[in-house]
Amino acid sequence: MGLDFKYIEGQTPLSEEEKEGLLIKSITTRGELDELEQLNIEKAVEWTLKNKLSKERILSEEFIKLVHKKMLGDVWEWAGKFRKSEKNIGVTWIRIGVELRMLLDDTKYWIDNDTYQPDKIAIRFKHRLVNIHCFPNGNGRHSRLMADIIIESVFGMYVFTWNNSNLVKPGNARKEYIDSIRQADSDSIEPLLEFARK
Ligand SMILES: Nc1ncnc2c1ncn2[C@@H]1O[C@H](COP(=O)(O)OP(=O)(O)OP(=O)(O)O)[C@@H](O)[C@H]1O
Ligand SMILES: [Mg+2]
Repeated sequence: MGLDFKYIEGQTPLSEEEKEGLLIKSITTRGELDELEQLNIEKAVEWTLKNKLSKERILSEEFIKLVHKKMLGDVWEWAGKFRKSEKNIGVTWIRIGVELRMLLDDTKYWIDNDTYQPDKIAIRFKHRLVNIHCFPNGNGRHSRLMADIIIESVFGMYVFTWNNSNLVKPGNARKEYIDSIRQADSDSIEPLLEFARK
């Protein structure tokens, strides 16, 4: 039996090639996949807590990839590698490297010049990161963890609550989250900022 991929709103479908990157062949259902990914991500969160991370380290392409690899590397072969196919969200794949470079430079500038409050810096970073959509999948979860890492390690503040809800599952919280992303797309970052601390 193959994987039962039923995609909920806002999730990026995997290409046939990307589905082949599944490292654990015994997975047969979407539920099992979600569970294994979640376990992998919990390990990644522990790893980020154990490591003292500098601003320079965090805001590098190498680290962006490493976090994704730590989050999904037990489950997917392509974890930590930039995508090489087009998605309905994100920049054309050839531009991922340059777009990320600009985002990392902008974010360093915002931090060094106190351009915005810490929460705003972390959330603006998260929003632009997910819109680049560096990886075949897991970009939402990766961008939220990156925002948590920035707020905690760079600013020494509490991580975000993200509405204290499971945003991967369909439901009201997920709807509100996607809605706030869309508003951020049209230049209003406030709803996403609020959502992240609710
Ligand atoms: N119009 C949109 N609809 C849904 N998601 C969007 C949209 N625009 C941007 N996104 C972002 O894309 C992410 C989904 O991308 P992807 O499937 O790669 O990540 P994920 O980690 O698997 O998903 P999730 O966010 O459910 O954890 C969402 O979290 C959201 O931040
Ligand atoms: Mg997804």
